[in-house]
Amino acid sequence: MVEATALHPILATEIHVDIREPLIAATIAGIVSIMDHSPVGVFRHERPVSDGAHVAFSRRFGPVERMKIPAGSAARVPFPEIIDQSNLDANGEIFPDDDKRMLYKRANRLWHTDMSFHAVRATYSLLSAHVIPPDDAAPTEFADMRAAYDALPEVTKAQIEPLVAEHDYYYSRVIGGGPEPSIAERSLRPPAKHRLVHVHPGSQRKSLYLASHISRIAGLSDADSRSVIDKLMAFATQPEFVYSHVWRVGDVVMWDNLATMHRATPFDDQQFRRDMRRTTVREGDVALEAML
Ligand code: OGA
Ligand code: MN
Repeated sequence: MVEATALHPILATEIHVDIREPLIAATIAGIVSIMDHSPVGVFRHERPVSDGAHVAFSRRFGPVERMKIPAGSAARVPFPEIIDQSNLDANGEIFPDDDKRMLYKRANRLWHTDMSFHAVRATYSLLSAHVIPPDDAAPTEFADMRAAYDALPEVTKAQIEPLVAEHDYYYSRVIGGGPEPSIAERSLRPPAKHRLVHVHPGSQRKSLYLASHISRIAGLSDADSRSVIDKLMAFATQPEFVYSHVWRVGDVVMWDNLATMHRATPFDDQQFRRDMRRTTVREGDVALEAML
């Protein structure tokens, strides 16, 4: 039995497991079963979890995404599995206000699902708090896409059932206040198509698959696409579907991208350091499975 305490009526649970310990398979299965029920899991530790332990724990849940670190560039966190979600450069200094990396990172303040712009979707993300700003600033908010789907009017459910959305990394970066990418940058991140409604694999419940990365809906005009997406985003992020996580240093929060959306909230990122590090677990290799 994995011990757990509800933090929210539908979507968040504190899971009383020290992720730095060697864990038996039954504990991992217990965590998955809690997450299938309540898709945000909070693991608390008295100090920041080391990058190695963070990556090792993440690997227990499936293939972990690895970043290609460009040759000659010094990463602040030298693990290809760790996405640096801080406001800090390679020397640990706060990025200037107009730095392109900062401008793109601020797109995290739009409701999104991690990596929905990839054909192979992300399952879990695990975000680890190393340094947080003072006064409980910059909580992360999560919204439950299965509860939101359940609450939709039946007529809307029928309308959106067949729809396929195009998810584009640069769409959210630009509406989030970042610069237009070059053609070369765009070609490195082609959009991906996913159904708006899917069956969540762990629970077999229907869920919305939404994100601010969605640029359009296949077969609809731009205006109709926008209207459908804006309405669904507003509906799905109503307060009853939302849990706001106030961070403590040492927290690792794990969320299921196939059952939630999330967003960062603003803080004074020119004055305070916020050092958050993420790993991302992916669905199995779809292309490889198709070949078998
Ligand atoms: C992420 C993310 C939000 C935050 O790490 O994927 O969206 O509050 N983070 O840092
Ligand atoms: Mn994110």
